[in-house]
Amino acid sequence: MFEIEKATAAIDQADNLEALDALRVQFLGKNGEITLLLKTLGGMSPEERKEKGPAIQALREAVTDAIAARKAALESAALEAKLAAERLDMSLPAAPVPQGSVHPVSQVMDELAEIFADMGFAVATGPEIEDDWHNFTALNIPETHPARAMHDTFYFPDTDAEGRAMLLRTHTSPVQIRTMMSEKPPIRIIAPGRVYRSDSDATHTPMFHQVEGLVIDRGIHMGHLKWTLETFLKAFFERDDIVLRLRPSYFPFTEPSAEVDVGYAQEKGRRVVGGDGDAEGHAWMELLGSGMVNRRVIANCGLDPDEWQGFAFGVGVDRLAMLKYGMDDLRAFFDGDLRWLSHYGFSALSVPTLSGGISA
Ligand code: DAH
Repeated sequence: MFEIEKATAAIDQADNLEALDALRVQFLGKNGEITLLLKTLGGMSPEERKEKGPAIQALREAVTDAIAARKAALESAALEAKLAAERLDMSLPAAPVPQGSVHPVSQVMDELAEIFADMGFAVATGPEIEDDWHNFTALNIPETHPARAMHDTFYFPDTDAEGRAMLLRTHTSPVQIRTMMSEKPPIRIIAPGRVYRSDSDATHTPMFHQVEGLVIDRGIHMGHLKWTLETFLKAFFERDDIVLRLRPSYFPFTEPSAEVDVGYAQEKGRRVVGGDGDAEGHAWMELLGSGMVNRRVIANCGLDPDEWQGFAFGVGVDRLAMLKYGMDDLRAFFDGDLRWLSHYGFSALSVPTLSGGISA
């Protein structure tokens, strides 16, 4: 005979959830004691069923309620025990989280974009896989020109659909061509990006970075070029005593062309940009190439060189970074050594701005 007091007592004494579940099966499972009692109802006369049915149902409810109550009690006791046993030491220092940094090349490119944006220049880009028309021919470097050999070009084995030789661009100058062909003057752009030459030593890597500058407008002359470069270099090196020397030079895509030297002094074993290169303790260092855009290049892009003139310049971004931040081996830029990156890298939070500081 089923005894409810014994059953509820057993339930109340179950000291873990497994034991409680075993009791549930014992009373309410498929062959449980109460389940069997419920089954006897089927064989009873209607009067008997009316009399005994509610009592059996009441047993089932009492056992179900007792199990639920015990289950809640066991669970809250387990939670209490866990809360009492688990301790967090809030005074421990935060675990050191490895932090990334902004690569000096990215930093310098951001600095350039900020400085030139203030002078009204947009940032333009072009493909690193170029054809020889954009990289050479349109820039007034014909097939037989020695400059093609000088560039140590990486060529692809196949030509494009128009039969043009394909290559990794050797400079950012093809972006000049693409911009003049796709945009109407006036044009003011800088084009920073990767360039490739088959060359490798402490100051040359097969991949490096350049930034190209291009201005196309009416009545542009060398004075605009010199002012722009001076303003850029003062902002970039964050000092006012930048002195430039323009030396006559030759590039096929500019006429006249000028190589730009900057005065520097040797301090603690490294070159520090600033001062007149002819002054005591100073010297000149070649920094960038520039000139007035060659009439032929303007015409190659479908513009009338009698109406539109401009200047262009090109400078190594890695070299600018080395001069400003004092690294002496270019190869380390691309080794991915975490010690180098954390030493020379920049915080992602220090975005260069003219108001807040270019390299602050
Ligand atoms: N493209 C040249 C190089 O890679 C650099 C250069 C020189 C760019 C003079 C120019 C320029 O736009 O006017 O050596």
